[in-house]
This record gives sequence, structure tokens and C-alpha cells, in this order.
Amino acid sequence: MIQGSNDVFENVMELAKRRGFIWPTSECYGAVAGFIDYGPLGAMMKRRVENIWRDFYVIQEGYYEIECPTIAQEAVFIASGHVRGFSDKMCQCPHCKEYLRADHVAEGGNIRNASIMKNEDLAAAISSCKCLACEAILGTVTVFSFNLMFSTTIGPGSQRIGYLRPETAQGMFVDFARLLRFYRDKLPFGAVQIGKSFRNEISPRQGMIRLREFTQAEAEIFVHPNEKNQHPSFKRYAEYPVPLLTYVRQQNCEDPLEIPMREAVDKGIIANEYVAYYVALTHEILVTIGIKPERLRFRQHLPDERAHYATDCWDAEVFSQRFGWVETVGIADRTDYDLNAHATQSGTPMTVFIQYDEPKKTQRCRIIPNMSVLGKQYRTKAKAIFAELETAIPTPEGADIVVDGEKIHIPASLFEVRNEVIDIRGEDIVPHVIEPSYGIDRMCYAVLEQAYDEDMADGETRTVMRLSPNVAPVQVAVFPLMTRDGLDIIADEITRTFHKRGILAEYDDSGAIGRRYRRQDEIGTPFAITVDYETKENNSVTLRDRDTMKQVRIPITKLPEIVGALVDGSITFTSLTSDKTL
Ligand code: GAP
Repeated sequence: MIQGSNDVFENVMELAKRRGFIWPTSECYGAVAGFIDYGPLGAMMKRRVENIWRDFYVIQEGYYEIECPTIAQEAVFIASGHVRGFSDKMCQCPHCKEYLRADHVAEGGNIRNASIMKNEDLAAAISSCKCLACEAILGTVTVFSFNLMFSTTIGPGSQRIGYLRPETAQGMFVDFARLLRFYRDKLPFGAVQIGKSFRNEISPRQGMIRLREFTQAEAEIFVHPNEKNQHPSFKRYAEYPVPLLTYVRQQNCEDPLEIPMREAVDKGIIANEYVAYYVALTHEILVTIGIKPERLRFRQHLPDERAHYATDCWDAEVFSQRFGWVETVGIADRTDYDLNAHATQSGTPMTVFIQYDEPKKTQRCRIIPNMSVLGKQYRTKAKAIFAELETAIPTPEGADIVVDGEKIHIPASLFEVRNEVIDIRGEDIVPHVIEPSYGIDRMCYAVLEQAYDEDMADGETRTVMRLSPNVAPVQVAVFPLMTRDGLDIIADEITRTFHKRGILAEYDDSGAIGRRYRRQDEIGTPFAITVDYETKENNSVTLRDRDTMKQVRIPITKLPEIVGALVDGSITFTSLTSDKTL
């Protein structure tokens, strides 16, 4: 129950700043909107969230991680469509001169479909709306498109344009040929990347939700287009229920419905097993990092909201008390769009050779050129002409081929046509891509907001971050009751034993024990150990649970094993209270 300011966002951000989770960036020069610093505790918590994501995708799914530069050359983003179309509609308030997202202004004025309106129509529609900054009625404005990519130049001078990547995904697409070889030319396979992405957002005013530099964790899973309903591990999630807000339910203003993934695919609600599998896996990841299931839903993109190439798209939305439902993860079936685009732009084939179980017999007319005549006539070009004739289609007049951009007609008198039956061993196909794309900063904000709580302890209000033990920056605190009689030495030894086991333990001997508990509660440390005088008698300590504030006595020798299991979730604190072996 929260008693302070009733805006959780204010409370969380105040705590986050004060205790070293999140700081405004370069604050001494005046912070810049859209950029944040993760302080010591925030950086540790973020790393833990990323590592849980890695555990699911890299270790369990077997999709290896790659790391590409954050700057890429222009051609990459011409192919991906970002140079042409990665823009938001923008206008400037004529009164306060603030730049505004025109679709956000429209949303504030209850104007629908702003994203699909022409700029002039949108300008007319929002003229009666209020400025989001100064709240004056806008009046006449111009709406124009603003490309969100940060551009730069590569090397001295300005010969070579580069862009800071607006998503990590493109790295996996442009590395496709090498990835394919790494995975021994077999589908399906996947690659993932966690790293910074950059978008020059027009007016980022939502803390960690809309940043200009943020961390994405994306997986690109390459699948045979005819095998999207054959996910090899689908049974893992076949009976897993997920709250789905389908586009039909949105159109009918209905609430989400919990549906197991097998049923969602069989009823055609989710396009295929691959998309459904990653919807369920995303649900599991978000719950694992501490998102409450009742504040989580999966919203299907409306048909006019979906990218033209995507066949199905779902957003994992997390409910925020301040921001409402926030898109935190996007899961899309992107078909063969990206690979085709890069193949065309780069000239590098992005296909996989799929061998048939049995070779297929097929008839073909083969051209057998008259080599001596053609060789004399075309000399240096002859070799290229023979190669082209291999696949050319003969007509009674001859065959038309192109060599080095030059069209050449070879008369029928200069070759013989032979009909033959050949074995076709397989075919080249362009894989489809299933893409789950996670915003790590939004996940971290949701974790912080949902963990924030206040309750009563020892007659006073206690602020407690109920972080899941697997994301809490400090995993256990160790306190000597007194800094004398050797209690401090024992506490220090216990702390070091934790460190050797990779558990982040914090030793604290300053102030009254109650104050020390409060400090750790406020940063979400799930467990605290106190070394007291009984420790000297029987080598046991108290282990306190942050949420219930209950304590149990544990032998020192069992501490690393028990705290390790509590942190990774394999046991619960409640199970310890009834454990007779302790
Ligand atoms: N490759 C697909 C892609 O980038 P997206 O929906 O634009 O899709 C994926 O981004 C996720 O990245 C979002 O669901 C969100 O969590 C996060 N994200 C996008 N823009 C962001 C921003 N400006 N600030 C923080 N997170 C952002």
C-alpha cells in the first residue's frame, strides 16, 4: 500500500535517483531529455535482466549472440527502409515553439487514425487541439515528417554517410550468409543481439519509456516458410495460457482472453507456431523478471497498424500506473522482407539450399554450343557466352543472352538443342524471419514501478522495493550485530564466501540494525543475514526475508547453498521456515 505521493512514477524515480538506480545524464551540465545514466544499482539490475534474457534465448533456445557496430553505412538502412520511411509526423507549436509529435497531439484531441493521415489533413485536424507543452490551442500548423535516425559521417570529410542504428536487428540480417554457414546451412536457426539503439525521438518526456539511446535485445529466427507451424519445441508452450487482446477484441472493445497457445494457433488467432511460441516465451521471461501477470497482456497489431510485409505482430504490453499500457516487446513474423531487401541492395544472395529427400526428375532443353565457331567469333567473351547459354532458353531463331550488360543474339545455327532428363537435388529458398524484439529499459522501468511498495514496520512507514531476487542488484546483506567480540570478523568471512560463489553480498556495520534492514529493503535486497552472539555458540545466523520480514536460523555452512537457491528461485523462503533439517 503506497502512502507517499500517489504517483508511483514520482516515488520510483525519486528513489531511483537517490539510491543510485537511474540518474539524469551529464546532470552537472543540465540533463538532456531522452538520455539516462544507470547508476551502480541500476546498471547491476539491468545486467541481471539482460542475463535472464540471455539464459532464455542463448542457453535454452541455442541462438548465439553476435555483436555488431552501433554505426552502419547508409546502404544498410536504405535496404531496411529506414532512410526512406523511419519518421514520425511532427509540428511546431506556434506559441511556445516546442516541437511536438503530431500523432500525440491528435491522440490528446481524440482524433483517430493520425498515423495514416496525409500531413496536410493531419495539420487541419489538429489545429483545434491543445499544445502538449503550453496547452494553448495550436491553430495553423505545418505537419512534416522527421526521420528519427541520427546521421553521421564515417571518416574525415563527409564522403561516407553513416547512421547510428535505430534497431539491433539489421546486424543479424546483413550477417545472414555467415550465420548460415556457422549453423551448417540448416534451418531453423537464430541469432540474437543485445545492445544500444538510437532514435532521435521528437519530444521524449516519459522517463525511461521513450529514450533517444536505449538498449534492445532482439532475436532473429530464420525459418523455412513452409515450416512455420513446426516449431520443434512447441509442446513446451502448447498448454501455456496467455492473455491475448486480438485485433477483433480491440475492434469490439473487449478485454483480453487467456488462451493456450495450441488453441490460439489452431483457431487462427496467432498466425503460426513460431509466433505463438515466442509470445509465450516472452510472457515467461517478463514474469520471471518480476512483472505481475495481471499487469501483462499481448495486443495484436490492427491490420492497418502492421508493417505491410508482416503477416502477424503482437506487442507485449505492461501496465504502468503513470503511462497506461506500454509496449515493451514486439513479436513479428517479418516474412522474407528483410533478406530480400538486403539481397537486392547488396547483390549478395540470401538464400538457403534445401535438399529434397529424393532428387526430382525434370526435363530440360540444353544448348550445346558450337564452340569452335563461337570461340573464334567472340574470343575473350566466349567463356562468358558459353556459361550464359547453359541456362538460356532456346527458340527456333536462337537464344538471347546478356554478357557484361550487353544483349547478344546467338543464332540457332550456332548450337544444337538436346532434350534431357536431369535430377534436381533441391532448391534455393529465402527463409522467413520471426522477430521477438525487447526494450530492456522499458522492462527495467516496469520492474522498478511494480516493485515499489510501502508498508508498516516497527510502527513506521517502510519503503520496500519488492524486486524479484533474480534481478535485485544486491542479493544478500550481511550485518554483524556489533562491531566487536569477533562478530564483524565472522560477518566479513561470510561476505567473502558469498563473493567466491558469485553472489553479490554487501557487508554493512553502520547504524542500528533496524536502519540497516531499512536501507537494504529500499534497494530491494531480498535477504539479510545477521551475525549475533548465538553465532559464536552454534555457528548459526539469522536469515531475514525482505517481504515478510520473517527470520529463520541457518547454519553458516549451509548459507551459500541456501541463499543461491533462494536467489535463483529453486526454493522459497517459506519452505525454509518449515525445514526441520536446519
Ligand atoms: N526490430 C524491431 C523493432 O525495433 P520496435 O517496436 O521499434 O521494433 C522494439 O522496438 C522495442 O524497443 C519496443 O517494444 C520498446 O520496448 C523498445 N523501444 C523502441 N523505441 C524505444 C525508445 N525510444 N525508448 C525506449 N525503448 C524503445
